[in-house]
Amino acid sequence: MSKTIRISSALAAVILLSGAASFAQSGEAVYKAKCQSCHGAQGVPNPGIAKAMGVKPASDPSVKSLSEAQMITDTTNGKGKMPAFKGKLSDAEIKASVDYFRTFAK
Ligand code: HEC
Repeated sequence: MSKTIRISSALAAVILLSGAASFAQSGEAVYKAKCQSCHGAQGVPNPGIAKAMGVKPASDPSVKSLSEAQMITDTTNGKGKMPAFKGKLSDAEIKASVDYFRTFAK
């Protein structure tokens, strides 16, 4: 009996967690899922990607000088080898992930 209860509460926890994950829209979550592979966990791309794709660190002066609005436009429409995220992410998700990326510029 107690074993059944333990198993079902474990199952409930898994269901709750997966539900929470699919609703998570924090900038950090979006960034980790959609941006980190190119831009790196801390806004610094790994050297291979940096070279192959032309990704610069978030702290690079040429990146830091961009406004939030400009970065949102770049992410929405794509830039260089970065794909456009229009239609793949909501406007709110793009803004949130850009804001998260901008925290690495400081
Ligand atoms: C497939 C690799 C890739 C992914 C995934 C990617 N980017 Fe980029 N991103 C790039 C590259 C390459 C550039 C540089 C483009 C250029 O200047 O030619 C760039 C540029 C940018 C810029 C402009 C600043 C700069 O470095 O020139 C921002 C802002 C940005 N990315 C944000 C994001 C966000 C936010 C996401 C996730 C929603 C994301 N990127 C996902 C490759 C990627």
